[in-house]
Amino acid sequence: MNTVLLTGGAGYIGSHTAVCLMRCGYGVIIADNLINSVREVIPRIEELGGRAVRFHEVDMCDERAVEELFSASPDIGSVIHFAGLKCVPESVREPLRYYQNNLGATVTLMQAMQRHGVKRLVFSSSATVYGDPETVPISETAPVGGCTNAYGRSKYISECIMQDACKADAELSVVLLRYFNPIGADESGRIGENPFGVPNNLLPYVAQVAVGRREKLFVNGNDYPTPDGTGVRDYIHVTDLARGHERALRYTEAHKGCEAINLGTGKGASVLDVVREFSNASGVDIPFEFAPRRPGDIAVCYADPRKAWELLGWKAEKDLHDMCLDTWRWQSANPNGYTD
Ligand code: NAD
Ligand code: UFG
Repeated sequence: MNTVLLTGGAGYIGSHTAVCLMRCGYGVIIADNLINSVREVIPRIEELGGRAVRFHEVDMCDERAVEELFSASPDIGSVIHFAGLKCVPESVREPLRYYQNNLGATVTLMQAMQRHGVKRLVFSSSATVYGDPETVPISETAPVGGCTNAYGRSKYISECIMQDACKADAELSVVLLRYFNPIGADESGRIGENPFGVPNNLLPYVAQVAVGRREKLFVNGNDYPTPDGTGVRDYIHVTDLARGHERALRYTEAHKGCEAINLGTGKGASVLDVVREFSNASGVDIPFEFAPRRPGDIAVCYADPRKAWELLGWKAEKDLHDMCLDTWRWQSANPNGYTD
């Protein structure tokens, strides 16, 4: 069996990708230090994926622990590297912690891969590497590196590290997946996004308002140069995103070198579009109030997704209604996340 190591695989995107890979016949090993996730997700991944997961509680910055993990798992054939801290405002307050964790984990992982002859890697990058884009839709040839925060720069520098490693080792195969805005949940309602504390991102916040955990949504900015004045993003269903990882893994099995590929739908939706669609899908009114723009936010961001189709044969299939419906199913069945 083809075995894949998922660093950060207990998190939101990793858990959905684990299920997708298990359903496609891959063996899955998850290494996560649970800094932003909980152990309770593992049995749910096993339930949905229909087989056992090998779970290791490991900090990917801990060289000795990572070496032990690889030594104990000689069947690892490829790696998907999700592990990282991802909160933008926190990264502005604590840049060194973000660089230490996100870059430390990347280097430690790649050194272990090198020692153990593992040559295939898929990386969770982000549309944030494009900064404030000059034009939309954003293609992979757009300038990168103009990020305004330490989180975004940690993704950009990780991409550079991987590109340099590929130049030095012609056997390496790396796909940098630049996600746009992942939302939604597995349609079973058994796994989903489970933020600790007050959510930073739009959908988990809206979902918590809908379920009564928060009073109202604050819409950050209604004076952007967009049709309704609110920010426009390319929301993509997390199970579509998970399928994209499976395709990227297959790509690494047949190609060498480093490719950056956008994973988005190519369609933009405003904050008010999302609020409207979520109300439709849930049947719950979402009270909201306009508030100032968030520092560093951009007006419009959506992908040119053609390269993913050309190289991976992948495109998004689910629409905003599906995304809201599935988020609502997860949130209403698990109002307090995995602790329910
Ligand atoms: P998440 O926080 O749910 O998952 C990340 C996981 O990594 C968590 O389970 C966390 O415990 C783990 N982790 C963090 N540091 C670790 C370390 N040093 N060692 C081991 N485990 C560690 O986040 P997610 O939304 O699933 O994101 C997954 C990846 O995708 C992240 O790298 C994130 O930056 C990237 N990404 C996310 C989004 C998004 O909007 N969700 C967008 C673009 C890119
Ligand atoms: N928004 C609100 N109120 C909120 C939260 C968000 O109005 O309570 C608005 C934002 O201003 C923005 C839109 O909703 O216009 C989306 O915001 P998110 O925080 O959900 O997403 P971002 O586009 O800001 O950032 C996300 C991830 C980043 C990633 C980026 C691109 O948080 O890590 O997508 O992939 F880099």
